[in-house]
Amino acid sequence: MLVWAVASQKGGVGKTTTVATLAGWLQQEHLRVLVIDTDPHASLTSYLGFDESGADYNLFDLYAAETITRELFLKCTVKSRHQGLDLIPAAMTLATIDRQLSGRQGVGRILDQALHLVEDCYDVVLIDCPPVLGALMVNALAASTLILVPTQTEFLALKGLQGMVRTFEIMSQADPNADFDYIIVPTMFDKRTRASNHSLTYMREHYPSKVWSGCIPIDTLFRESSAQRTPLPLMAPSARGAQSYYALLRDLVAHELKVHPRQVSPALAAVLTDDLAAGGEMLQHHGPEMVAQSVQSMITPASEEQN
Ligand SMILES: Nc1ncnc2c1ncn2[C@@H]1O[C@H](COP(=O)(O)OP(=O)(O)OP(=O)(O)O)[C@@H](O)[C@H]1O
Ligand SMILES: [Mg+2]
Repeated sequence: MLVWAVASQKGGVGKTTTVATLAGWLQQEHLRVLVIDTDPHASLTSYLGFDESGADYNLFDLYAAETITRELFLKCTVKSRHQGLDLIPAAMTLATIDRQLSGRQGVGRILDQALHLVEDCYDVVLIDCPPVLGALMVNALAASTLILVPTQTEFLALKGLQGMVRTFEIMSQADPNADFDYIIVPTMFDKRTRASNHSLTYMREHYPSKVWSGCIPIDTLFRESSAQRTPLPLMAPSARGAQSYYALLRDLVAHELKVHPRQVSPALAAVLTDDLAAGGEMLQHHGPEMVAQSVQSMITPASEEQN
């Protein structure tokens, strides 16, 4: 099971859109995906068609529990109307979590430990973060195999990016065993504007090994998709915004096959071969390790270019 946190200390850069769109593609690939909404504003929760009051349990119940059991974790998840896509909804009460948890030991590892209880249930977990550095974001970062940092291609957003990179440095110093692997995802790119082009060049120059080689273009259909409470891949899969996230997904899987091969399920690795059925057949004959290795050898040149 892979865990991808989508985080930035800057608001409105495309975090929630990134989670919803990647989750939509994973669902379309028939994978088991869990999205966790850790933002008290609950934008992702409503994007997926839920109201805060619609679920009996939410993420707050998980954090508030003295002991987290697998049973409690599963109680906190709800099934979306898209088969295979589950959600842990957010609630406004999450805004008080820093106060609730203060003084408790190991507060930054609660989500990480909880996710270990359901490792067999999902191929990928995606965590949407609030644009605030607090216990909710720290828990998400500490739980993840890879952190995505959406960064709008405009100058103000670059400051947010610097803040985020500084956060990774501080957290790495606090826990030298922790490995914060992150990838910067340029978003809302408008090729006609100088600001977009300059910002993209700046990112690539200053964080050469960390910026995704593609970028997410401006696409008005994202707003439409959140208004319709349907991830874009399910609403308009051929839209250029949706297609750019599919390219991102493939590169993320390729990256994870290099860094965390044991955590990539064979079904997820099959995203890299165009024919999902072929992945299933390979699995029957060779087992997960062989599939991971063989898919890895197929994609190595492209992902080396990215790094
Ligand atoms: N590539 C894009 N093209 C056009 N609009 C986009 C794109 N990505 C996101 N948006 C729109 O920009 C707005 C902000 O996006 P989103 O909610 O995903 O950002 P966020 O980082 O989660 O914000 P917050 O920090 O408030 O949680 C939304 O209206 C969304 O539909
Ligand atoms: Mg958001």
